Amino acid sequence: MKINKINIKTNTKNYSILIGRGLVNKIDKIFKDRNITFEKCLVVTDKNIPNIFKKTLYTKLKSKKIFKIQLVPSEKNKNYITIEKIHKILFERRFNRSDCVISFGGGIIGDIVGFASSTFKRGLKFINIPTTLLSQVDSSIGGKTGINNKYGKNLVGSFYQPDLVVSDINILNSLPKREIICGYAEILKSSIIDSYRNFVYLDKNLEKILKLKSPFIENSILEACNLKKTVVEKDVDEKNFRKVLNLGHTFAHAYESTLGFSKKLNHGEAVILGIKSAAEFSLQRGILSKEQLNIIINHINRIGLKAKINSLFKKKDTDKILNFMKIDKKNNSESINLVLIKNFGKIQIDFQINPLILKRYIFNSLK
Ligand SMILES: NC(=O)c1ccc[n+]([C@@H]2O[C@H](COP(=O)([O-])OP(=O)(O)OC[C@H]3O[C@@H](n4cnc5c(N)ncnc54)[C@H](O)[C@@H]3O)[C@@H](O)[C@H]2O)c1
Ligand SMILES: [Zn+2]
Repeated sequence: MKINKINIKTNTKNYSILIGRGLVNKIDKIFKDRNITFEKCLVVTDKNIPNIFKKTLYTKLKSKKIFKIQLVPSEKNKNYITIEKIHKILFERRFNRSDCVISFGGGIIGDIVGFASSTFKRGLKFINIPTTLLSQVDSSIGGKTGINNKYGKNLVGSFYQPDLVVSDINILNSLPKREIICGYAEILKSSIIDSYRNFVYLDKNLEKILKLKSPFIENSILEACNLKKTVVEKDVDEKNFRKVLNLGHTFAHAYESTLGFSKKLNHGEAVILGIKSAAEFSLQRGILSKEQLNIIINHINRIGLKAKINSLFKKKDTDKILNFMKIDKKNNSESINLVLIKNFGKIQIDFQINPLILKRYIFNSLK
C-alpha cells in the first residue's frame, strides 16, 4: 500500500500529512512508526461518518484509554458550548498535555477540535483525520482553528498546528457528490495558483477525479496539499503571501453572505462561482487574457455544478453583494482588495479596486 507523505515545517511544529487508502486500518502502526505516544485519547467524531470507519478506528486504538464524543457537524454547533463540552471531558478525565485529542470528521469538526486542543492547558496533542475532500485538501493543513459567534464565522480562533494529519481516501467513498465538488473547488483553486501543468492534469482527468479513482484523486489531493504547504511555510501567520489562497474567496464570501449561508449554495460551490468571477474580472482589468479565461470557464462548466449565479441572484442584489465585499476582513481601506489572476501560476494579491468599478462588473454579470 502506497502512503504519500508531505512534511510541513512551521515556527511551532514540524508534522506530516499522510495520504493514501486504508490508513485508518493501520493507524496503530502509523502512530508506532512515528513515535506518537499517549496514554489517553479523546476521539471527537462526526455523526455522519459511517459506523464501520468509527469501529475500525476504535479497534485500532484499543491498547489506549479512549474516550469518545460524537458531534452533529453544523456551523451552529461550531461554538463555545461545544468547546466547553470537549473541555469538560478532558478535565473530568484528567487529561494532561501529553495526552491526545483526535478529530475524526470534516472541516467543522477539525476546526472545533483544533481550537479545543489549543486552548486546553495551552495545548495538548492534536491529530487530525479529515474525512471530507475539503478538509483533506484545505482545512486540515496550515493550523487555522476556530469557532463562530454572533458576530460572524471563524472570528474566534488560534493558529495551532496538528501533530499529524492522516487523510484516508477510502473514507471519502461515503461523501455525497455535492461535498466532493465542494472539496474539488479548493483543488481547482490550488492548481490555478500553482501552475498550468497542475491545472492541465485536472482538466484531463476531471471526471476520474470526481469519481475518486486512483491514482487521480491521490495526485490531486497531493498537489493541493503541496501548494498549501509551500504557501503556509512562507507565511504561517497569514500576514501577506498566504493571501493567494483567498483566490475566488472575496466573491465567494459575498455570495454566501448575501444568501445568508443558505443550503442553496455551500462554500465550495461559492468558491467555484467566485473563481469564475475573479477570472472574468481579471480579464476586464486587462490582466488575464481571453484565451486563459475561456480555458478556466470551460473547465468549470464541466464540473457539474448545480448552483448557477443567475438563478441565485438578480440584478437588484448587486448592492448587497458589493457591501459584503466591502466588509470582507481582507480589506483595510476604502477600496476593495481583491486576489486576481494574471495567468496560471501568477496570482495578483492586493489588487485595489474602486467599489464603483466592481459594482458595474457585478451588475453586468447578473440577469
Ligand atoms: N481551518 C481552515 O483553514 C479552514 C479552511 C477551509 C474551511 N474551513 C472550515 O471547514 C468547514 C467546512 O468543512 P467541510 O466542507 O469538511 O464541512 P463539514 O465538516 O460540514 O462536512 C460536510 C458534510 O459531510 C459530512 N461528512 C463528513 N465526513 C463524511 C464521510 N466520510 N462520509 C459522509 N459524510 C461525511 C458531514 O457530516 C457534513 O454533513 C467550515 O466550517 C469552514 O469554516 C476551515
Ligand atoms: Zn475555501
